[in-house]
Amino acid sequence: MKLLAVMGDPIAHSLSPLMHNFVYRQNAIDAVYTRLRVENGDNLREIFKAHNLSGANITLPHKEAAFAQADEISSRAKKIGAVNTWAKQSDRLIGHNTDADGFAAAIAPLDAFKNALMIGAGGAARAIAIALIEAGVELAVVNRSEARLEFFAQNGAKVFVAKNPPNQRFDLVINATSAGLKDDETPLDKSALEDYLSSAKMAYDAIYGVETPFLRLAKLRGAETKDGEDMLAFQGAIAHSLFFGGDVAAIAAQMKSALRLPKSWR
Ligand code: ATR
Repeated sequence: MKLLAVMGDPIAHSLSPLMHNFVYRQNAIDAVYTRLRVENGDNLREIFKAHNLSGANITLPHKEAAFAQADEISSRAKKIGAVNTWAKQSDRLIGHNTDADGFAAAIAPLDAFKNALMIGAGGAARAIAIALIEAGVELAVVNRSEARLEFFAQNGAKVFVAKNPPNQRFDLVINATSAGLKDDETPLDKSALEDYLSSAKMAYDAIYGVETPFLRLAKLRGAETKDGEDMLAFQGAIAHSLFFGGDVAAIAAQMKSALRLPKSWR
């Protein structure tokens, strides 16, 4: 039997074991997927080896450490500067990032959007930005602070700080911040956000599991809305296909059914 895991800290809330184990059961794959709380990212590789893992997903706060400790990095992960999947090739650890393709699959076709405004400049935002830029969508990124905007400017996005947001309309507005996850905050000043949402075709929130104030406002303003569920399922399905092969769309559909199982299964 193969053992796989998601590694991060905190990790108790991760839905990856639920999604991956469901797929193993549905497809009679002889494997188990567990969660490992790893406090010190320097130990990731050692822990992977010690548990004789066949593959792993790596989540916050260790995606940069996973990048540093892989033997080889996919071109996608190189662009994003972070790794969320380790797949084994012979005895080498190959670092991938499935978040960008997961996002692209979740809101395909991306080229239905001429331009997009992304709020947030963290890890999730980087992956989403690479997917948008590669699809040819004009991207503006706005963040409450300046420090992390540099990456986006270097990759061809226009960048803004929240106190001085762009003055134009956007087809797609994305919340890639954690605002609204545990509080009642919108990621940008509410009146500026209302203007963007009133003229947007779609509002997308990378958060899954709670309806954020951002998505509530988008609904009131008549935009089509989408939360992070499909991106979560697709990034998991792409990782699964790196571990075991298989059809990504079919596996993503199974992972989505796993997410809809009663909460007591988690
Ligand atoms: P992740 O990897 O999930 O994207 P992260 O790297 O911690 O998480 O990034 C969080 C993002 O949300 C950042 O852009 C952060 O802004 P800063 O760069 O200024 O820290 C943004 N963010 C977090 N809480 C926010 C809030 N209440 N309002 C607006 N932006 C917020």
